[in-house]
Amino acid sequence: MFEKPDELKELFNSKSKEIKAVSDVEQLRIEFLGKKGFVSGLMQELRNVPNEHKKEAGQKINEIKQYIENSISEKMEEIKKLEEKLLIDSAEAYDESMPVSKDMGSYHPITLVKREVEEIFKGMGFTVEDYSEITDDYNCFEALNIPKYHPARDMQDTYYLSSNQLLKTHTSAAQNTILRKYKSNLDSGNPIRAIFPGRCFRNEKIDACHENTFFQMEGIMVDKNISISNLIYFMKTMLSEVFKTDITVRLRPGFFPFVEPGFELDIQCLICNGKGCPSCKDSGWLELCPCGMIHPNVLTAAGIDPEEYIGFAFGLGLTRLAMMRYGVNDIRLFNSGNLRELSQFTEKNFSRPVNE
Ligand code: PHE
Repeated sequence: MFEKPDELKELFNSKSKEIKAVSDVEQLRIEFLGKKGFVSGLMQELRNVPNEHKKEAGQKINEIKQYIENSISEKMEEIKKLEEKLLIDSAEAYDESMPVSKDMGSYHPITLVKREVEEIFKGMGFTVEDYSEITDDYNCFEALNIPKYHPARDMQDTYYLSSNQLLKTHTSAAQNTILRKYKSNLDSGNPIRAIFPGRCFRNEKIDACHENTFFQMEGIMVDKNISISNLIYFMKTMLSEVFKTDITVRLRPGFFPFVEPGFELDIQCLICNGKGCPSCKDSGWLELCPCGMIHPNVLTAAGIDPEEYIGFAFGLGLTRLAMMRYGVNDIRLFNSGNLRELSQFTEKNFSRPVNE
């Protein structure tokens, strides 16, 4: 009888138990499922199994392969969650047990972070725009080069309304409207520079890290000679001001149909300065801001000639930024209405005064 698959399962389970980092999961995958891994070793040994047992042994190998594949993806999820929790736990803490202030209202933490980012961009010539929470398929997807049935729609589980409208899943939904509103700037030789913060909705299962209602801040700039360097400059300047320290950024390729090329902008981990620590999953970097150069189809949809103009767009996760900034480890706090905790985030936490 061919017992090796059972032994392999045991070996896998004992190794899997020891694993604590994403990179180790990858190592484990290579060790077991890689070209020269244990499973393919077993496949080769199948040749030596007597014919009458071949079928059964083959099935067993397939079962163990399936088992290892499933366990590895479960492990990956589990470790990612753990690492995210560690990251949040290690940020600057606030005191959950502070008494409630009875005589003063206070700003919501998202409002505070939003205003600070707005001030920074205003200082760089951007206008701040508002946009509705309810929009339609055209603005949320079609105008952004995401046609019907495009798989990119699956990344944003959308709340559709019976009126044929929908709740916007990202602030990019405002791009078309804002590009149209300001395209006359271009005719008079001025750039379009706008940011638009907003509440977004996706059908997420709610837990400490996921909300169905969250905030983003979108930014766009369009002119004649915009390049990726402009994008990097604005993001670096803004993030350095928000975190009150010089931030190092890097770009990795990222796919979004409405930008080409598209990137994920990472910042160097502020806790370990890039050396690698649990907060940054030992990579030295934190993913913060998807961005890219606006796709020609998006400009065309807004009536702007992509042969003549070019621009960048970014989508900053404001809720995530607020969590990092304040060390909030449970996203549910923001929509909880819990004044005892929410009233602690006053503008005194900022060096920049908040007007109003
Ligand atoms: N709208 C995208 C999202 O929410 C993020 C994004 C914005 C990407 C702008 C690129 C440019 O997933």
